[in-house]
Order: sequence, then C-alpha cells, then structure tokens
Amino acid sequence: MKQPVGIFDSGVGGLTVYKAIKKALPEENIIYFGDTARVPYGPKSENTIIKYSLQNARFLLQKNIKILVVACNTSSALALPELEQITNIPVIGVIQPGVKLAVESTLNNRIGVIGTEGTIRSEAYNKAIKAILPEAEIFSYACPLFVPLVEEGWIQHPATKLIAEQYLSYFKDKNIDTLVLGCTHYPLLKSLIDEIMEHKVKLIDSADAIALHLKTLLPVEEHNEPGIDRFYVSDNEAKFSEIAEYILGVKPTPVKSVHLYESWFE
Ligand code: DGL
Repeated sequence: MKQPVGIFDSGVGGLTVYKAIKKALPEENIIYFGDTARVPYGPKSENTIIKYSLQNARFLLQKNIKILVVACNTSSALALPELEQITNIPVIGVIQPGVKLAVESTLNNRIGVIGTEGTIRSEAYNKAIKAILPEAEIFSYACPLFVPLVEEGWIQHPATKLIAEQYLSYFKDKNIDTLVLGCTHYPLLKSLIDEIMEHKVKLIDSADAIALHLKTLLPVEEHNEPGIDRFYVSDNEAKFSEIAEYILGVKPTPVKSVHLYESWFE
C-alpha cells in the first residue's frame, strides 16, 4: 500500500488544490479532509484556527500520510509553524507558491490580495511578497462571504455576483495588474472575478504551483497504477459530495463523515 498524501481544508475549497495534485501526480493515493462542521475558518480567532488545524492534521497523521498539504490559506497563514512542530513529515502551505507566481506576474509592482479575514489580518501575503519584492505595493481586502457562498454551491448565483462586485470595487482605483486569490475557495469564482475585473488583471491561483512543488518533493511511484483517494468530512457528507462533483466533474469516491473528538487530540 502506497503511503498517501494528506490534504486538509476547512471545507470544499481545498478540492481546487486536490484537483491540481491529482492531475500532476495521478498515481499518488490521496486522503482529503474537509472540516465541514466548522467551516468557515476565516472569521475565527488565531487560537481557534491553530487548534482546528492541529486536529485536522492529527486525523490525517493517523492515516500514515507521507506529506501534509495545508490546502487552506487561513491555516497556512496562521498555523504553519505549529503544524510543523507536531510531525517530521514535510508540511506544505499554500501561501509561498501563490506569492512566487504573483511576484513573477506583476509588471507594475502593484499587487492585490483577496482572502479571508484571518488571512488578510495576518498580513502573511504582504510579508511574503515584500520579502521577495520590497518595492511592491500591496492592496489587501477580505471577502468573508465568498467561502459560505461557495460552500452553498452558489457559484453562478446573482447574489454572488452582487457581493463580488461590491468587494472588488475596492480595487477599481488601485491600478493593480495582479490579484492573488488568497483562499482555496476563490478559484471557483475565478471567471466571475475575471469578468468583474474586466479581464485586465492577472488572477493568481496557486493550486498548480503547489502541485508542481509537490512533484519535486515526491519520488515517482514505481508501478504507475492510478492512486486510490479517500475523502473525509467532519459533517454533512451528502452536501460535500454534491459540491465536490461540481468542482471535480466526477463523483468523489464515497465520502465518510468523521467526528474529531476533542479528547483524541489532547
Ligand atoms: N479555503 C480556506 C482558505 O483558503 C477557507 C477558509 C475559511 O474556511 O474561511 O482560507
């Protein structure tokens, strides 16, 4: 049995990362965990996000994973050091790959970042972009309603368009040429965001960059058999399956619901 790659997110958003990894590394076994009982993470406090992230990681570590992909910007922004402390396996966050793409993309050094309140408040993107491109001007804006709208499957809903127009009006006079989709749920709204930004701004989705990074870390599996994937959620597997099918284009293999009993992790 090949040791699996472990991925977690607060809900369905991390499936955008799962999809890119599956495409780049089809022979890997993948275990995905979506914390659907406690989504969204974005508005929660740093301590809570760290606690939830550690619980999710411990659940996956029990499944003998060989690498942990934190497919949630909020957890990557706030909990990466704590996650690295509980394991010896590599822990991959989603911020650095997105930052690298953004810095490569910008021509005028004016970069926009959208994310959850937790991610924007942490200034993780600002710090990481400035570390590579000190002259960059960064304009960040939290879009807290995007995650529940995506979790609800309201991807092409008129209400989502209205809310997106309101949020993105912040960037109208900022003259950015690059906008980082700093939340793994947001690529699902990419065509809407692109339309509202009048196709003038490069949108950065780090999923492919993460998959490529992972490829450099993992030796090629010998037998070339397609991997077997497993999906776990902390609540409401039927709803997860429905949105997952929309995102992946295929029904995910049976989704299991698990309870992250607090006592397991203390
Ligand atoms: N996909 C998570 C992220 O990238 C969403 C966080 C949330 O649950 O608010 O930040």
